[in-house]
Amino acid sequence: MIDIKNDVKEVLYSEEVISKRVKELGAAISKDYEGKDLLVVGVLKGSIVFTADLIKGITIPCELDFMAVSSYGKASESSGIVRILKDLDNDIEGKHILIVEDIVDTGTTLSYLLKYLKARKAESIEIVALLNKEARRKSNVTVKYSGFDVPDEFIVGYGIDYAEKYRNLPFIGSLKREIYEK
Ligand code: IMP
Ligand code: MG
Repeated sequence: MIDIKNDVKEVLYSEEVISKRVKELGAAISKDYEGKDLLVVGVLKGSIVFTADLIKGITIPCELDFMAVSSYGKASESSGIVRILKDLDNDIEGKHILIVEDIVDTGTTLSYLLKYLKARKAESIEIVALLNKEARRKSNVTVKYSGFDVPDEFIVGYGIDYAEKYRNLPFIGSLKREIYEK
């Protein structure tokens, strides 16, 4: 039987570790947005698992929406050109937006999204990212809530893919080099 776990070099964060950290992020967000009109915006598809778990830890009223973006280029390398595949369903004027991202790498995707959403008169826009790959940052984006600082490796699992696969791994791990370099 083919087991996708065999392609993982190292488990970086177990299900238990992720769950604990995501609950902490939910608690911090609930505290900071108390009394505010919060709209959680998941960035498809990578943040789907994180978004689902995160909102369960948010105890204040909030709304949920999704955007889908894609950057052209090879699967393991972000190209810098961002395209909107799915926009928000509703108006964001006057709302406090919290963008949920799986992983911030060069920051290109988020700096584009921020610019795009800022033009629509939201009350505030902040970012929560499960993983932060600081070493590779090219664009200056402020990540208000960050789950874990990850090394510069190719990460998969917990919603995060390589060539659309591995999203269903319940943990976060680094992918074996021979998988993405073949
Ligand atoms: P950025 O625009 O360079 O910050 O790239 C952000 C997007 O690239 C993330 O939302 C992911 O979809 C993808 N990405 C960046 N690093 C990784 C990785 O290590 N594994 C899987 N996807 C990644
Ligand atoms: Mg993404």
